[in-house]
This record gives sequence, structure tokens and C-alpha cells, in this order.
Amino acid sequence: MRILENFKKIYRKLIAFNNIIYHYLRFYKYSGTNFEKINGYNFEILKVAHALEKSIFMPEQKDESGWENAKILFNLLNISSIKKEKSESYFIGVNVYNKFIEHKKSNGIVKDIKKIDLQSENFLESGKIKIDEQGFKSLQNPEKFFLSRYSFRDFKSKIINDITVKRILNLASKTPSTCNRQHWFTYNINNKEIIKKALSLQSGNRGFTEYIHNLFIITSDLSAFKPGQEVYQHWIDGGMYAMSVMYAIHSLGLVSCPLNWSTTPRIDRKIRKKISIKKSHSIIMMIAYGEPKNNIACVSKRKSIENFYKVINE
Ligand SMILES: Cc1cc2nc3c(=O)[nH]c(=O)nc-3n(C[C@H](O)[C@H](O)[C@H](O)COP(=O)(O)O)c2cc1C
Repeated sequence: MRILENFKKIYRKLIAFNNIIYHYLRFYKYSGTNFEKINGYNFEILKVAHALEKSIFMPEQKDESGWENAKILFNLLNISSIKKEKSESYFIGVNVYNKFIEHKKSNGIVKDIKKIDLQSENFLESGKIKIDEQGFKSLQNPEKFFLSRYSFRDFKSKIINDITVKRILNLASKTPSTCNRQHWFTYNINNKEIIKKALSLQSGNRGFTEYIHNLFIITSDLSAFKPGQEVYQHWIDGGMYAMSVMYAIHSLGLVSCPLNWSTTPRIDRKIRKKISIKKSHSIIMMIAYGEPKNNIACVSKRKSIENFYKVINE
């Protein structure tokens, strides 16, 4: 018995090591470190634009601040493939860049650096917003919303329509992300055969596989990340996004169940053979969702707040 336990301990550590190597190699291949690819440039534009937009709204303004990033952004926006593709990131970038130049000009600082002519109606507005009084008001009953979300494992066979799915994803898109890179990507599956294929590789759906008719695979794009210290960031942001998706589902009166993707490299490779998932997309988790078949949910009792909370004053 003891020998078996000791063997399990070592085996688990080896699996962990194997996972670390696998994900390191994924970072090596698919992170923004290799960002000559257009996808990487687009993420880089959002990242640098965000540094600039922050500098515009800093309470203390310095004449010299931001110019270095403005130049980097200008160069990125002038890469020929970027200019040709004109993605949404491009328009966000140009908008922020021009706002920065205007902002400096209105503060009496002019440099030898020009605005970029958009020559297009496709102008994604960013900038200041004044939050009205309502924005700071507490919800009437926040507990009612937050404490009434449960993981459901029994769904009606109804397929959730595309308008609702897009509404869910639009609500969830307000999730904050590192430098506003918005690197999440959701695969939506409602074909029973493909759902079965996906779930056959997921370890926590036994007993309710049959009742799942709508499935999200939530992923994060590794190519949005470049510095080595960002190696974990796509999982963190992706987890936050997944939570927003679940709250969005809940806000629309639908129910969901998160399904873990704590898997081995072998299974992660396998799902990519069965389902077309972009190579640079790391799977964060799956989410089964839909209309509840009945109103019975499993209560997974929470521990009291004292377990999660400590005041540190020194
Ligand atoms: C990342 C993640 C993965 C999960 N994976 C599974 C799963 O594979 N199967 C399952 O039945 N529940 C899964 N759950 C649901 C948890 O069991 C559930 O959230 C927890 O018991 C709390 O219950 P509640 O969501 O009803 O509040 C997962 C939850 C999270 C956050």
C-alpha cells in the first residue's frame, strides 16, 4: 500500500513535469516571441496603444512621457501587411495614436510626428467616458445575482441561438485583459457528434454527457504574449474571461457547468486532431450551457469568509 502511494506521488510529479515541458514548448512555438506573423503584430498594437491611452489619462502629465511608445505604435501601424489588412486592432491603434498627438498638442507640445489619416468610416472610438451617477450605484440585490449561480448538469435539448450566444460573448468581452489584448477565443459547438468527440476527452462529464447540447471551448491566444514572464498570463486572463462567460449566461436566465481542461499533453494533442482549434489557442476550459431541464441544482457549500480573508496592516 505504502509502495503504491509513493509510486503515485512520483508519478504525479512526473506528469506535472511533462505538462510544464509541453506548455513551455507551446510558448516557444506559438507565443508572440515569433510575432513577425500578422496576428502577433495586431496584439502588439493593442498592447502599445493601451500604454499610450493610459498615459493620456494619467493625473500627472509629463511633456516627455509617451513619445517612445507613440513612435513604436506609428511603426507598427505602418507595417505594410498591417496597413493592408486593416483589422479592428489597426483602427483602435490609429485612434489612440491620433488622440495622443491631439492631447499633446492641446498641452502645447508639438513634435515632428504626424497624425495618421484613417480615410475610413471604420473608426473604433476610444477615449474618455464620464460615468453617470447610476454607474456607481449598488445593484438592488447583488446577492440575488451572484449567489444564485450554480453549476447545472442537466440541460434541455434546445440549441441556444446565435443571437443569444453573441450577446453572451459581448457581455463577457468587457472582461479586463492584460494591456487590453483581448486574446480570448470561443469555439461554440452544438453538433451532438462533435460535442461527444470533445467530451470523450474531458474528464469530468461522466453521468451527464448525454444532456449537453451546447458547448463552449474557451481558449486564449498565446501569440498575444511575448516576454517570458508572461508565460502564465494567458491562463489567468482566460480564466477570468471564462468566469465572465458564465456570469453572462446566468444573467440571461440560462445555466452552465464549467468543465476542466487539466489534461495531459497527449489528450491536448488529441483534441486538436479531432476538432479544428488554432495552434496558438490554449484551451482554458469547456463550458456546457443551455436551458435548465428542471430547477434542481447541486449545492456545493462554500466555506465561511474567515477562511479566505486576512487584514494586513503592517
Ligand atoms: C475550472 C473548473 C473546472 C471544473 N470542471 C468540472 C468538471 O469537469 N465537471 C463538473 O461536473 N464540474 C466541474 N466544475 C464545477 C465545480 O465542481 C463547481 O463549480 C463547484 O463545485 C462549485 O459549485 P457551483 O458552481 O455550483 O457553485 C469545474 C469548475 C471549475 C471552476
